[in-house]
Amino acid sequence: MLDPLPTSTLKPDVPRHIGIIMDGNGRWAAARNLPRLEGHRRGGERLIEIVDACIDLGVSTLTVFAFSAENWKRPPEEISGLFKLGEWILRAHLARLERRNVRLRAIGDLSAMPDFIRRPLTDVIESSKHNTAFTLVVALNYGARQEIVRAAQAIAEDTAAGKIDPTKVDWSTVESRLSTAGMPDPDLIIRTSGEFRLSNFLLLQSAYAEIVFSTVFWPDFTKEQLQLALTEFGKRERRFGMTREQIQATPTA
Ligand code: FPP
Repeated sequence: MLDPLPTSTLKPDVPRHIGIIMDGNGRWAAARNLPRLEGHRRGGERLIEIVDACIDLGVSTLTVFAFSAENWKRPPEEISGLFKLGEWILRAHLARLERRNVRLRAIGDLSAMPDFIRRPLTDVIESSKHNTAFTLVVALNYGARQEIVRAAQAIAEDTAAGKIDPTKVDWSTVESRLSTAGMPDPDLIIRTSGEFRLSNFLLLQSAYAEIVFSTVFWPDFTKEQLQLALTEFGKRERRFGMTREQIQATPTA
């Protein structure tokens, strides 16, 4: 849990890759007697602010859980409203992303997404692929279990075709077939809204991530809240299976 008091005198370590489960849009709206989609709209505005804050802080990659493979179970009008909002955000902020030298990537099965969002999204993914200041990864129709199944299928096919020796399958064989291939693992996963679970988000990639749970709903997750999460991250001792003594003896890069 986050400390209630900001410890602004501490300079937090900056994670290279942050993953965010942007939860609580519906409850934020319900608490104000507003439609759920208004919560998502305000959540979308917050996303733009947090992207800017991450770039300013020197984070290199941000992955946001925008639509899970399980979110298809939601009412159809909420699903189509979310996709329209996603398309609108992309259009409204395209110039800004370009100006800030942001590369856009997506993880998840985009083939099931409607054309009106998939086409502009894949266009921007292509046109921004040489941008270097920051990578924004949108998880859309994403589920970690589905991703792992797809990687296992790809390895099985390559093995059957004689391209891989099954005795040589190791973590790099799996990693290179995940949708995050080539990205650094997340150092920090943030989930808002007071829920304490990962909900099928980046399960393998988060093996050594620090996890910070914030009680605020996503539309209220300001850059000050982000700073609190980074302060909490900065207090954690990441040992990667080693002892404290070993970690302390390791020179930092
Ligand atoms: C979770 O809140 C939030 C989502 C399922 C959608 C997040 C999307 C955005 C912030 C906007 C960007 C949209 C796209 C498609 C790029 P919830 O609805 O589960 O909240 P609740 O748990 O309070 O009901």
